[in-house]
Amino acid sequence: MARASVKYVCQSCGTTHTKWAGQCGDCGAWNSLSEEATQSAGPPSKSLTSGKGRRVELSSLSASEPPPVRVQSGIGEFDRVLGDGLVPGSAILVGGDPGIGKSTLLLQAAAAIARTGAKTIYVSGEEARAQIRLRADRLGVSDTDVLLAAETSLRDILTTLEAEKPALVVIDSIQTMWSDTIESAPGSVSQVRACALELTSFAKRRGVAVILIGHVTKEGQIAGPRVVEHMVDTVLYCEGERGHQFRILRAVKNRFGPADEIGVFEMTGTGMKEVSNPSALFLGDRDERAPGSVVFAGIEGTRPVLVEFQALVAQSALGTSRRAVVGWDSGRLAMVLAVLEARCGLQLGAFDVYLNVAGGLRISEPAADLAVAAALISSYTNTAVPARTVVFGEISLSGAIRPVAQSGARLREARKLGFDTVFAPPRGEGKDKTDADAVRIEEFDELRNLVERFDTDADPGA
Ligand code: TYD
Ligand code: MG
Repeated sequence: MARASVKYVCQSCGTTHTKWAGQCGDCGAWNSLSEEATQSAGPPSKSLTSGKGRRVELSSLSASEPPPVRVQSGIGEFDRVLGDGLVPGSAILVGGDPGIGKSTLLLQAAAAIARTGAKTIYVSGEEARAQIRLRADRLGVSDTDVLLAAETSLRDILTTLEAEKPALVVIDSIQTMWSDTIESAPGSVSQVRACALELTSFAKRRGVAVILIGHVTKEGQIAGPRVVEHMVDTVLYCEGERGHQFRILRAVKNRFGPADEIGVFEMTGTGMKEVSNPSALFLGDRDERAPGSVVFAGIEGTRPVLVEFQALVAQSALGTSRRAVVGWDSGRLAMVLAVLEARCGLQLGAFDVYLNVAGGLRISEPAADLAVAAALISSYTNTAVPARTVVFGEISLSGAIRPVAQSGARLREARKLGFDTVFAPPRGEGKDKTDADAVRIEEFDELRNLVERFDTDADPGA
C-alpha cells in the first residue's frame, strides 16, 4: 500500500529529508529544503527473487547495431554541439539564465527541423500561442509547419504526443510542466523530476527526440539539476553576458557526441545567427598595441578558437589589493600570480589585478596559463606583446612551461587569422612540426624567460 507522507526535499539536489533544516546535509545548499508530499511505497510484499518476473532479452555486445540516423537542422552550430545532429529517441536538456535566448534558439531549431519535413511540436508552458507566433514572425520562421501548444498538464501533453507521433518535441520549460500524480507545486524538484522522467521515457519508448528547456537558478544550476542531468542523454548550456551579443551553446554532457563542444551564436534583432568563424568575431575590435592584451590560441570542443585576454595590473589604492576575474578561473589566476612572484621575482602584492576574457567567452583550459601570464607581465611592464602574436602553454608550480595538446591545430588557426608569431612551450622531438615554417615559434621552457623577453626586448612602439 502506498501512503502519502510529508517529506522535505532539497530544491537544489533533490535529496529527501525527514526533518526540516536550514541547510541541506547532502549538497550544502542553504534554505533549499521545502515541504513536499511524496508517495512512499510500503514494504515490498514479496521477495524480488520469487520467480514472478519476466525474463528480459539479453544480446551479445558484439552484435552489430547500425549507428543512429541523425536529423540535421541545418543550423550548423546547433548540429555541431549535438555531435552532428539530433539522435531520434534522445532526451536533451537545454539550460540557461532567463532571457539568454533559449526559447528563441529552440524555436528557430524547431522550425529548421520542420523544414526538413520532420513533424515538430513546440509546447510552451510560459507563453501563449499568439506570443509564440509573434516571435516566429520576428525570426522569419512563421511559414513553417511547427505545431504549437500552450499547455502545462503533462498528462494532456503525453496523450497528444502519443497520438501525433512527432519526430521532435520541444518542452519550454520543464519547470512549468505539471504532473497530476505528484502533489507538490510545478517547478519543485519532485515535479521537475517526475515530468523529466515521463518525458525521457516517452522519448526512448517512441524514438522521439525530446528537448527540455530548463531555467537556471541564480547559483547557476538548473533547479533540480542533478536529478534531471542524470536522466537525459545530453545537457547543453546557453551562456553569454547580457551586455554582449555572443551566445555560447556548450555541451556539458553528451552520450552521442563530444562533451565540451561549443556552438557560437550572435543575438540579433531577428534571432540567433550562427557564427561559423568565432575567432574573427572574438578578435573583432581589438587594440593590438594595448599593454595587457594577449591573444590565446585555445581549443573549444573540437575546434580551435582565438580569444583575447585583457589584464590590468595597477597600483592598489587600498591596503588590500583586489583580484577580479571575468571568464577564467580565479583559483588559476591566483596560481599564475603566485608563480610569477615566487619563481620570477615579480612583486605583485601591492597591485590590483583584473583579468577579462573579451567577448563573454568562458575559458577553462589550463593551456591559457601562459597567455594569462603574458597579459599580466605585459600590463605590469606597460609593454605591448609583439604584434600578430598568439600565446598558449600550461604553467607548472615550479615555473616550468609544459606542452599542451593539439598545438598543430592552434598554430593553423593562428596562421589562418594572420598571426605570424607564437609564444609556446618547447615541442618535443618528433612532435607535430607542421606549419613551423609558416609561423615563427618562440619556445619558452621557463616562465622566467618570458618575463625577460618583456624586460629586455621592449616594443618601442608601445
Ligand atoms: P528568450 O529566447 O525569450 O530567452 P529565454 O527563453 O532564454 O528566457 O530571449 C529573450 C531575449 O532575447 C529578449 O531580451 C529579447 C531578445 N531577442 C532578440 O534580441 N532578438 C530576437 O529576435 C528575439 C526573438 C529576442
Ligand atoms: Mg523562454
